[in-house]
Amino acid sequence: MSLKSKINSNYLPKHVAIIMDGNGRWAKKQGFKRVLGHRKGVEAVRQALEAATELGIKTLTLFAFSTENWNRPKYEIDTLMNLLVSSLKKELPTFQKNNVKLQTIGNINMLPKKAQKELSESIESTKNNTKITLNLALNYGAREEIVSAVRSISKKIVNNEFKIEEIDENTINSHLYTFNLPDVDFLIRTSGEKRISNFLLWQIAYAELYFTDVFWPDFNKEEFYEAILNYQSRERRFGKTSEQIENNNK
Ligand code: IPE
Ligand code: IPE
Ligand code: MG
Repeated sequence: MSLKSKINSNYLPKHVAIIMDGNGRWAKKQGFKRVLGHRKGVEAVRQALEAATELGIKTLTLFAFSTENWNRPKYEIDTLMNLLVSSLKKELPTFQKNNVKLQTIGNINMLPKKAQKELSESIESTKNNTKITLNLALNYGAREEIVSAVRSISKKIVNNEFKIEEIDENTINSHLYTFNLPDVDFLIRTSGEKRISNFLLWQIAYAELYFTDVFWPDFNKEEFYEAILNYQSRERRFGKTSEQIENNNK
């Protein structure tokens, strides 16, 4: 029985987020330059997206570039930005064919103009697609996201659009980059590191976490299926008891 056929399509995570890590180490391990790992990583993105789409997962968020990644050597940053542009160009027909809607989270205004242009064109031309949302985290940092949410909420309070007492969890939710997406159900990190690295702090409040030693360029469809099967083996209790879950929350 294939891994894929063991997956229960009635118990899929609605929102899967992935910290795609280990490109550099994957390349180094075989004597290549780090950037070759990023090139190879693009193929892994294709596989994860295809696997998620085929399974019927509705949202896939991929951590592609963090606010901290600007501290890397210029050559590596340039390579990543160029790869983003060329991959978007190349994948657009596939997005259309597979009904993939593209969106981004993060401060996109700081990306190179070429990347901004390619992104806005791809977002515009896929905006009516409905099968899956591919959400790319670019120049994304959860703390930056929270700062910008606090700023826009404060502005509205100053402008008397609502009162301080009216602030609740929904207010915060709706001012984050992810305002239109459900909470993350399942967070995957590749490469053996067990940390969050400033990714989606608010949105993973109750996510199931999955860490694998596999480097991102080796994370293929089978690895994705294995991760989803692992998710399906867990009991999500949200503070309740096992007995309550078994008796349908009573
Ligand atoms: C993840 O791989 C890709 C990005 C952060 C852009 P890394 O480049 O972090 O690879 P390692 O962790 O150094 O091996
Ligand atoms: C997190 O990976 C960012 C992305 C995957 C884009 P990093 O490799 O930058 O994280 P640290 O530095 O190991 O925490
Ligand atoms: Mg890394």
